[in-house]
Amino acid sequence: MTEKLVWVDEAWSQIKRKLERTTNKMGANFPHASVEGEYVFERPNWWTAAFWPGILWQVYQETKDEKLKRVAEECEEKLDQVIDYFYTLHHDVGFMWKLTSVARYQLVGEEDSKRRALMIAHILMGRFNVNGNYIQAWNNWFEGDDKSGWSIIDTMMNLPLLFWASEETKNPRFKAVAMKHADTVLSHFIRDDGAVHHIVQFDSETGECVGFIGGQGHAPFSAWARGAAWALYGMTLCYHYTGEVRYLQAAKKVAHFFIANLPDDFVPVWDFRIPVDVTPYRDSSAGAIAASGLLLLAEKVDSIESKLYRSAGENILQSLYVNYGAWEDESEDGLILHGVSHYPDGKYVDNPLIYGDFYFVEGIARLKGCTAMTQ
Ligand code: GLY
Repeated sequence: MTEKLVWVDEAWSQIKRKLERTTNKMGANFPHASVEGEYVFERPNWWTAAFWPGILWQVYQETKDEKLKRVAEECEEKLDQVIDYFYTLHHDVGFMWKLTSVARYQLVGEEDSKRRALMIAHILMGRFNVNGNYIQAWNNWFEGDDKSGWSIIDTMMNLPLLFWASEETKNPRFKAVAMKHADTVLSHFIRDDGAVHHIVQFDSETGECVGFIGGQGHAPFSAWARGAAWALYGMTLCYHYTGEVRYLQAAKKVAHFFIANLPDDFVPVWDFRIPVDVTPYRDSSAGAIAASGLLLLAEKVDSIESKLYRSAGENILQSLYVNYGAWEDESEDGLILHGVSHYPDGKYVDNPLIYGDFYFVEGIARLKGCTAMTQ
């Protein structure tokens, strides 16, 4: 390890030290955001359910600490109730079972986890709309609602479950669906300058693109930072699984937009295009996601480009560690402060977020070379 990366070992030790306490405190639950120092738990079908067990598996891959493994396994088993109920399942089942069941199968070879993950891959594939070549994000939210045409950038990060399922079953159909969705993202979500739409609306009968919705970003044509991070990392993963250069080019385009818009401390404002009267809160989660994606992107390109992406990823993670980490504060359950979940709805603005914590841990694990469960 180079001199510069001594901080990586320190960060890893701090993560482990903090988990000693929070693993006992939080147990097999589903945290989302930390409010006044304590993580608020969500119901198990909420999209963030797998990030806490995902953190435990990330650390377990290096420590082999049985306590972390037990809690992660218990979280996964609790998710069975969601599969049985079925109606509330959505596109984020990719995150939910990739970071729990696939991780467990890859790390400890649990066959029951493989069964769960394959079953969920079928459910995710079943959300594909052949008219418009997109995976439907959500279900209807109220009587008379119609979400059949809504597709969102976040789905890019759910595609790895489909790629994994194709590799596991030696059946190309899961991968084919993932690529069709990714191609729709290339043509409708990623703009010429590398900024990204959060929600694109299609006519679910004709497949025609009928509009753009701001969603968690400021506006339909602003530049939601976490959306760009999902696109950057998701396109890199598509290239990782398929070798198709168009995905690599898209990942680079979004990466350049993201890096060029970072402020001096390398941690993005929650939306890169907000008017002056909107508070420019930082979103540490967008930084952590992009950093982990940039480190993977750096592994896929030649040495000159690799240096650019790797140093951008390192800079973001180092700044998160030094300037945003809650290491000394024993009354704070979160690892990384100052995330923005949903600014337009006023939900968890300037809080630690479990996905920010997860991608910070994954990024540090990647810098340490612990990649047994990486994608
Ligand atoms: N909707 C997922 C996110 O907040 O990024």
